[in-house]
Amino acid sequence: MTPDLSVALGRLRLRNPVMVAAGTFGYGLDYRDLVDLTQLGAIVTKSLTLAPRMGNPPPRVAETPAGMLNAIGLQNDGVEAFILETLPRLREYGTPIVASVAGETIEEYVQVAMKLSRAEGVAALELNLSCPNQARGGMEYGVHPELTAQVVAAVRQATDLPLIAKLSPNVGDITPIAQAAVQAGADILCLINTVLGVAVDARTRQFRLASKVGGLSGPAVKPIALYHLWRVRQSLPETPLIGVGGISSVDDALEFILLGAHAVQIGTANYVQPTLAQEVAQGLAAYLQENGIDSVTAIRGTVR
Ligand SMILES: Cc1cc2nc3c(=O)[nH]c(=O)nc-3n(C[C@H](O)[C@H](O)[C@H](O)COP(=O)(O)O)c2cc1C
Repeated sequence: MTPDLSVALGRLRLRNPVMVAAGTFGYGLDYRDLVDLTQLGAIVTKSLTLAPRMGNPPPRVAETPAGMLNAIGLQNDGVEAFILETLPRLREYGTPIVASVAGETIEEYVQVAMKLSRAEGVAALELNLSCPNQARGGMEYGVHPELTAQVVAAVRQATDLPLIAKLSPNVGDITPIAQAAVQAGADILCLINTVLGVAVDARTRQFRLASKVGGLSGPAVKPIALYHLWRVRQSLPETPLIGVGGISSVDDALEFILLGAHAVQIGTANYVQPTLAQEVAQGLAAYLQENGIDSVTAIRGTVR
């Protein structure tokens, strides 16, 4: 018998639990010649803002031991170009499209969310709460429970789509923030976004990134992601969770599922192996079959 990989995150239903993470797979279409897009659990777009953005000046990526540091700065074509040019072609694949919403002000998050909600073919919205808040000198929205609640509540008013709040790991205790997001109307939580860091080049005696500070991702952050996921699982046992951070193998994905993730996202590893998400989904099926387990939901949250 073929194991059942389908998962339901509230109203968001996926054929398998392996998604590609925001910002690491373009808008999905960029990979159509390399990857069978119909085999992905869902495609998360790069974060979309109201106006097109060029992002930060280069260098904006640096390699680090077991990971990378990036400061792309939300480069994107803007929400309208996405809706007019990309979305009609992307939705033909029939894979759920999760649109990542970004903003420098709460009003911008709301405007972007409203436009995406009116478009045809968006399965859910994912709020990137790691955006710098203009009104607070660039602090991430997602490091503060009240700011998190304000963004989520404002977007909740503006959309009927399933709403995912993507949390920042750059906090001491993530649980009050997770609770604030759910109380304000988030249906699903996704964690984690990148971990703040800097890198210095000892030869040139310069920061490696033009913007100095970047976000760390890749295998180095996996234990941090697992830690936050595990803590949120304990404090919000009913909320569907998406685990992301350092996943580059079937076993990595299993670790998140065993700790309670309904689904996982693959980010940095797409740069090494664009077909990885598809292969991890196949590997999960093989793991279940080998162990005589009939569905992926049967093992979810079994490590406590
Ligand atoms: C180059 C790059 C760009 C990213 N862009 C976004 C983005 O636009 N929006 C977002 O929510 N997260 C973005 N992320 C964060 C990833 O979606 C993911 O949360 C993080 O990298 C941890 O997962 P990973 O270790 O598998 O990469 C980006 C990450 C990288 C490496």
